[in-house]
Amino acid sequence: MLDLLVHDATLPDGRTGMSIAVQDGRIAEVTAGLDAPAKDKVDAAGLLVAPHFIDPHFHMDATLSYGLPRVNQSGTLLEGIALWGELKPLLKAEALIERALAYCDWAVAKGLLAIRTHVDTSDPSLLAVDALLEVKKRVAPYLTLQLVAFPQDGVLRSPGGVDNLKRALDKGVDVVGGIPHFERTMADGAASVKLLCELAAERGLPVDMHCDESDDPLSRHIETLAFEAQRLGLQGRVTGSHCTSMHSMDNYYVSKLLPLIAEAGVSVVANPLINITLQGRHDTYPKRRGMTRVPELMSQGVNVAFGHDCVMDPWYGMGSGDMLEVAHMGLHVAQMTSQQGIRQCFDAVTANAARVFGLGGYGLDAGRDASFVLLQARDPVEAIRLRATRLKVWRQGRLLAETPAAMATLQLPGRPGATSWMTAKR
Ligand code: FE2
Repeated sequence: MLDLLVHDATLPDGRTGMSIAVQDGRIAEVTAGLDAPAKDKVDAAGLLVAPHFIDPHFHMDATLSYGLPRVNQSGTLLEGIALWGELKPLLKAEALIERALAYCDWAVAKGLLAIRTHVDTSDPSLLAVDALLEVKKRVAPYLTLQLVAFPQDGVLRSPGGVDNLKRALDKGVDVVGGIPHFERTMADGAASVKLLCELAAERGLPVDMHCDESDDPLSRHIETLAFEAQRLGLQGRVTGSHCTSMHSMDNYYVSKLLPLIAEAGVSVVANPLINITLQGRHDTYPKRRGMTRVPELMSQGVNVAFGHDCVMDPWYGMGSGDMLEVAHMGLHVAQMTSQQGIRQCFDAVTANAARVFGLGGYGLDAGRDASFVLLQARDPVEAIRLRATRLKVWRQGRLLAETPAAMATLQLPGRPGATSWMTAKR
């Protein structure tokens, strides 16, 4: 007997009337119209079942700290970094762990079951590293957390930066991070990229670097990152995050840069919610959007994913762990309004993010983890439009969260008993 059978599901690729059979935490079979004995049977009623959401870029050590010790007045990245610097000496491990766990609860409710989080390694006590390693352990039964050693104050700019980062890796942090645009000079930034990529190559670790998170059209760290990825044979293991300066770069230079990124097998993560608010703050009008060139990168064959980056912290006061909100903003900022573009935005918070993460067992095929979400939507386009209710969330066959369907009961003259849940009629 099966553990779970979900029937009459629509899949993200458009197949309808599909049954998903689950046994021992894995998908046993995905086939049309299967009926078999199961301990639990769920009628998807034609709605979308998708693999769970993945956030490939987050800062969990800062999450839910909004207002501590004060709010970012200018709304800029640099004031956010300064504000985080004021907060760091006040951090207590238990409070940080509690905030992170609360966020993980929100995430699971939204069907977000894997998060790559950067963790600041600049403080020699490595308090945030220890706290997030503890969180990773505690949430492991229901959420996959991956940690990136992130030298927020600059690995070369801050005293002991390299040593602190190496100690974080020794403790079990999974990925090498960096912030070249925050080093003292462009040359130091390039040196930090080289040093950190060599460290990753030595240790056999992936790289995920904040790269060119500015409006400076001459910031060139993604070029250096692509070069080092190729030189050191790290293809497929390197990610450039944010890359907002690409928005402002000269078109001729970008026409050379994009094929280099593709050739080096470097993934790019854009963070639309955050960079639409942080960037362009020094502009009058017109104001630049400051998101990296998502459709252009995708058309060159670069793997592009969307991250949430921040929720209620020194950089951003909004957010709820909803990757459909991230995809919704991404498609607006990048003007990816075609049907294909909207579906690519859905991929950016699911399949493409899984590639950044290196997440094995992901997807709706036989043999993969039975970790998927039933949405109150008919397809990925509608899921993004509605930021659809996550009706049920399963991880490895286990039901983790349920949210009642959104349904309005209307009292309309001439339309007794009318209801509305805003999905389009077929
Ligand atoms: Fe970030």
